[in-house]
Amino acid sequence: MKEYGHFDDAHREYVITDPATPWPWINYMGTEDFFSLISNTAGGYCFCKDAKFRRILRYRYNGVPMDDGGRYYYIKDGDTVWNPGWKPCKTPLDFYECRHGMGYTRVTGEKDGLKADVLFFVPIGHRCEVHRVKLTNTGVAKKSFQLYSFVEWCLWNASTDMENFQRNLSTGQVEIEGNVLYHKTEYRERRDHYAFFGVNRKFDGFDTDRETFIGMYNGFNAPQQVLAGTSGNSVAHGWSPVASHRFDLTLEPGASEELIFVLGYVENLPEEKFVAPQIINKAKAQAMMDAFATGAQVDAAFAQLRVFWDDLLDRFIVESEVPELDRTVNVWNQYQCMITFFFSRSASYFESGIGRGMGFRDSNQDLAGIVHLIPDRARQRIIDIASTQFPDGGCYHQYQPLTKRGNNDIGGGFNDDPLWLIFGTVAYIRETGDFGILNEQVPFDNKPGTEVSLLDHLKISFKHVTDNLGPHGLPLIGRADWNDCLNLNCFSDNPDESFQTTENKTEGSKAESLMIAGLFVAEGRDFAALLDRIGEDPAYVDEVLKAVAAMESAVKKDGWDGGWFLRAYDYYGRKIGSDECEEGKIFIESQGWCTMARIGAEEGLCDKALDSAKKYLECEHGLVLNTPAYTKYFIDYGEISSYPQGYKENAGIFCHNNPWVIIGEAMAGRAEDAWRHYKKITPAFTKDQALRKVEPYVFCQMVAGKDAAKPGEGKNSWLTGTAAWTWKAVSEALLGIKPQFDGLLVEPCIPIGTYRIRRRFREAEYDLIIRNSGKGGKVFIPYKPGKQTLEVDC
Ligand code: GLC
Ligand code: GLC
Repeated sequence: MKEYGHFDDAHREYVITDPATPWPWINYMGTEDFFSLISNTAGGYCFCKDAKFRRILRYRYNGVPMDDGGRYYYIKDGDTVWNPGWKPCKTPLDFYECRHGMGYTRVTGEKDGLKADVLFFVPIGHRCEVHRVKLTNTGVAKKSFQLYSFVEWCLWNASTDMENFQRNLSTGQVEIEGNVLYHKTEYRERRDHYAFFGVNRKFDGFDTDRETFIGMYNGFNAPQQVLAGTSGNSVAHGWSPVASHRFDLTLEPGASEELIFVLGYVENLPEEKFVAPQIINKAKAQAMMDAFATGAQVDAAFAQLRVFWDDLLDRFIVESEVPELDRTVNVWNQYQCMITFFFSRSASYFESGIGRGMGFRDSNQDLAGIVHLIPDRARQRIIDIASTQFPDGGCYHQYQPLTKRGNNDIGGGFNDDPLWLIFGTVAYIRETGDFGILNEQVPFDNKPGTEVSLLDHLKISFKHVTDNLGPHGLPLIGRADWNDCLNLNCFSDNPDESFQTTENKTEGSKAESLMIAGLFVAEGRDFAALLDRIGEDPAYVDEVLKAVAAMESAVKKDGWDGGWFLRAYDYYGRKIGSDECEEGKIFIESQGWCTMARIGAEEGLCDKALDSAKKYLECEHGLVLNTPAYTKYFIDYGEISSYPQGYKENAGIFCHNNPWVIIGEAMAGRAEDAWRHYKKITPAFTKDQALRKVEPYVFCQMVAGKDAAKPGEGKNSWLTGTAAWTWKAVSEALLGIKPQFDGLLVEPCIPIGTYRIRRRFREAEYDLIIRNSGKGGKVFIPYKPGKQTLEVDC
């Protein structure tokens, strides 16, 4: 089978050896608030803080060819023009390699005895990309050639940049000073920020006007200045500002030259914006240029970035007999969790960066993947999220990262949302032991003066469910539960309505969710354990446990279909996900949540539900969301039935929810089933890269299911709850390292032999040899600071 690349475990890199991957295979750079997306051909863009409002580079969605625009270096060597990353010229290279590492990407191209090695990274503590371009004459003759840099500026607001041409084409402004090309559109009025693209040596020519550089009728693959070996030395006034430097270089055989480019972003205080009329204050940009003037400085910054990632990834290391497992756990899954935490669902090659903000449920789930890595940031995120809650326990479904305010366009009404706050907070406290967070004073809807403790927020989250029960004593679904596409109160026949925000019928709705019911039981138990641990009023704890028990009874009574858990009741009170349904007889979410909650375990319901999931939902590439897929539009179910069968929420393999079944299987002690389900969705185990299409090093949200035209095709890679959930499944359920309030519980459920886990936990460092008998044994290790080497028999 065709391979486009391979893992380099020792360097924590993925190495792409063929630039024509089936889809751009991207990486992310940035750790604080300056972020970049970079593909294996150096396409992509960067932004500061907010992908919509502070976009630095322009990117074209839906372009042909796709992934056009990025940081391009052109080499003109005689009559040949080529790029180290192959695109945009696509001149065949003698050698090509792209190494995606932890927060950096290195692209190397070689052509006719000239090698160009470009290292891209975002240094810690600076708002910029550094590009170190190293050129080497690998041939036997002296070489004279030209190097061009090129980026195209976005006019800041990524949304209006694509729409408002009557204004945009007149606003572009630049300045040129020293070795730096500045982009200062709108800085004269309300913006306090500009961008720049500079280099650490004098250039031989430049351009800042796109038309001059590229030509009206050319594409990025044939810029007229590069073809001619010239620069226009153009100054952009309106139209489309860009930045390009030209260097005329000569290299003796074996000789190298290194150039350091800095693509940066600067904010200035209003009173410090200008040094003279119309002349921007460049002090901060200059300081950034000075910070990366030499190779030694770049080496030091790059080493610092490595230390950052090494320190994080050293917190959980497994050594087992399965290399695919080790590289997923030790490198890529944790890395993806970090990226998902940073970006939520905003910017990827499937999310435009202009649509969604931070999701209430998404961000809470993302916490589960990073609480062991960056607990302080997790803490802040919990407070930010809780601050968007309403006094009745409901919450804004999304908030904007720039303002941290709830998003009014979407509003609330997703009845699973409140429970995720309990989920996220419990995950954080189990990892950190920081019970103090519960005393933090947190407002409602960000309104000063409304503060109550975080613990009170959790209480009202819990209460929001018991305040909103339906006719069977099951939770009312509201606009939707976790499944955004099961819209039971929407009833839309108007394509201009949003399935998520339209409710054409709610009065008298009987729509209830078994997914929320399972979530409520599982999280309710965890909540009660937390309350108990902190010594809350036993009467209240009792009340919580009673509500949980009542929900379990309701599920057993009205949520069991004979072979599996029902999915929901619709507006009219009819069953969804039942054998009696015409299509969509069984769904994954309720099997996952009700088995994780162990509802009816004694009566054998969990085993039966898991068997049914295996029998009906499992296919070659994972577990589909529902089956049979909907083949027509059901107005009473909404968006789920709008997708062609086999895709997304309509019988796609929605990887996010596969771990629920994996954990359910592990809790039932069924190691073989848990492991098989895990391997199917984990990219390191997937063999057919061409079929999968998307990056073989990260999970994707969705893989086309058995009913699709091409089962196994992956989509929506990178930003997905799959990252945190597979992390939870593999680290806790399979490898069995379960953080508790007062220690670690080791309880593996995986059909492999002895393995070693090195795990930092609070102030402790555990080095565990786990002798896994496969018999379901467990050992509790009470928390104690310091280094500990233990052999554990399970
Ligand atoms: C997307 C959303 C998530 C939702 C899921 C299922 O991944 O980000 O919030 O739960 O789809 O619809
Ligand atoms: C669509 C998608 C779903 C996503 C939602 C976000 O419904 O199918 O996955 O969560 O949009 O609004």
